[in-house]
Order: sequence, then C-alpha cells, then structure tokens
Amino acid sequence: MEMLKNFVVFVLIGVIAALVFAYSGLYNVAASEPHSGVVAWFLSTVSEESVESRSADIEVPDLSSLEMRLAGISDYDEMCAECHTPPGRRDSPMAQGLNPAPPDLAEHDDASAAELFWVTKHGIRMTGMPAWGATHDDADLWPVIAFLKDLPDLDGEGYQSMLHEADGMGHH
Ligand code: HEC
Repeated sequence: MEMLKNFVVFVLIGVIAALVFAYSGLYNVAASEPHSGVVAWFLSTVSEESVESRSADIEVPDLSSLEMRLAGISDYDEMCAECHTPPGRRDSPMAQGLNPAPPDLAEHDDASAAELFWVTKHGIRMTGMPAWGATHDDADLWPVIAFLKDLPDLDGEGYQSMLHEADGMGHH
C-alpha cells in the first residue's frame, strides 16, 4: 500500500513538472536551433520504429518497368525535389531552412520500398515531410518509389538525362 502511495505521488510530481515546463516557455522550438542529443535520439528512434512496424504489411507491386520509373522521376521532380535536392542541384532556400533537414534520398537505399512508400503516403508529423496520400492515390505514388531505387546510381547528368527522357510522363 505504502509503495502504491509513493508511486502515485511520484507520477503526480512528474505530471506537474511536465505541465510547469510546457507553460514556462523554456523549451526553444526554433527550427534554426538543433534538437539536443537526447531529444534528437528519442524522436528519431520513435519515428524509425513507427515506420518499420506500420509498413510491415504493405504489399509492394512490381516496380521494375522503365515506364514506371520514368513516370516516377517526373513526379519526383515536381513533388519532392524542392526539399530532397536531386543530384547536381543546390539546396533550395526551403530545404536549407527545414529542421529536421530533408535527407538525401539517394543515401536511403537501405530502406525497403514498403517503408519509403509508407513515409511518402503518410508523411512524418511535425517535420515538414508532407502526407502525399492526402491528395494522391496509391497508384500515383508507387512510380516515385520505383524511381527512388534508381536515384543512388544517378549523378547530376544522369538525373537530367533521365528526366529529359521522361518528358513529362507521370501524373503531373
Ligand atoms: C516540404 C519539404 C518536403 C517535401 C516536398 C518532401 N519531403 Fe520527404 N521529407 C522531408 C523532411 C523534412 C524529412 C525528414 C523527416 C524526419 O527527419 O523525420 C523527409 C523525409 C522523407 C523520407 C524518410 C527518409 C528517411 O530518413 O527514412 C522519405 C522516404 C521521403 N521524405 C520521401 C519523400 C518523397 C517521395 C517526396 C515527394 C513525393 C517528398 N519526400 C517530399 C521534407 C519534404
């Protein structure tokens, strides 16, 4: 009984401390400042585990056709390139100002197609990564995922020539 009482008091103190902290204005939400190490670790771990568990049951269609990948680069250039800078281009002002910074998707070839799709469709809350599923059907998003598998192999010239070959394919 004594232990339960102590536990309740302990939890109450924790809740009160959290409320005082929330209303104190002490925490700096500025995007111009990095998260502290612990907060950054906590948020990225929560995010990684969340994406991994939610994408586990997604059925990945055949992504290998050239037509699909060409549609994908067109859509990538329209929808993603402003934040996820393609090879050979400079970061846009928006990409430079976002915190967390939009990652270079060419360096994410370890992520599965299902994980890439889940993030693209649902976005990541409070990061600037939009939920494209709010405005797009699954069928319109898969080509972008198909293209992401080509991205690590492209340099600036390769990106431009594939984009040129695509010549406005894709749903945009
Ligand atoms: C307005 C800026 C913005 C646009 C446009 C945008 N993203 Fe993002 N994206 C972000 C940010 C910021 C993150 C980092 C989120 C984080 O760190 O949790 C991100 C993360 C991601 C990730 C997760 C990468 C990882 O580290 O696991 C994927 C996948 C992704 N975006 C795909 C896309 C695709 C595909 C498009 C276009 C259809 C797109 N994004 C458009 C800002 C953007």
